[in-house]
Amino acid sequence: MAAPGDRRHPPAQTLVEYFDHRAGGYDRQLWMERWALATAARLARPAAGARVVDLATGTGALAAAILDRQPRIGGLVAVDAAPHMLERAARRLGVPNPRVRLVTADVRGVPLPDGAADLVSVGYLLHLLSPPVRGEVLAEARRLLRPGGRLVCVVHGSPPGRGGAAYRAVWRVLARTRPDAIVGEGPMADLAPVVARGGLVVEASRRIPGPYWSQVVSARRPADHR
Ligand SMILES: C[S@@+](CC[C@H](N)C(=O)[O-])C[C@H]1O[C@@H](n2cnc3c(N)ncnc32)[C@H](O)[C@@H]1O
Repeated sequence: MAAPGDRRHPPAQTLVEYFDHRAGGYDRQLWMERWALATAARLARPAAGARVVDLATGTGALAAAILDRQPRIGGLVAVDAAPHMLERAARRLGVPNPRVRLVTADVRGVPLPDGAADLVSVGYLLHLLSPPVRGEVLAEARRLLRPGGRLVCVVHGSPPGRGGAAYRAVWRVLARTRPDAIVGEGPMADLAPVVARGGLVVEASRRIPGPYWSQVVSARRPADHR
């Protein structure tokens, strides 16, 4: 349970407000994330006609990378709870666009039926969340996927091994000294086992180096679900 004022475990509404207030400047950080987002779009490799749901779409950077990769996509639903982030996503994704639908909703309760997606993507959200909330988002992603469908996630990650522990320690110091600018859990040590615990079969994991390390994981919902 988060202590009041604890920015490492912000309640979902606080996190959404944080991004909604900063929507105007959000894209300034995309240069650090571009390579990881391109890697995620490559691992996502949606087939022509695929139905895609992008959770926590923000200003639509990952959704746009996926659309660039597969122009003949069946349809993309971009979900976020922050209206000002979605306004920017609408511009980036060229809405009105017959292939794109924007949905204002909590990613833990998306108003779409079970199995509605061939591909679910989640860019730069899971590292912000406490482990229980992260589990709820992964459960919702799994629900949305058809059996055999693919999940692709990108998070703020870490270098492997000892370097990773040092990197995460630096971020803990930054989070203490700049609580106005840094929110959430901080860089994850390894996203792959977290995705596996969510009932998905991990297919690929890539660590992307840089001033802002990222990790991309792709996984499948098992076909023999019960
Ligand atoms: C760091 S941004 C990621 C944006 C985008 N996916 C990208 O990769 O550029 C995180 C987004 O998650 C959204 N968000 C956080 N918690 C949410 C929740 N519970 N339901 C819906 N959206 C949420 C925020 O509003 C914000 O737009």
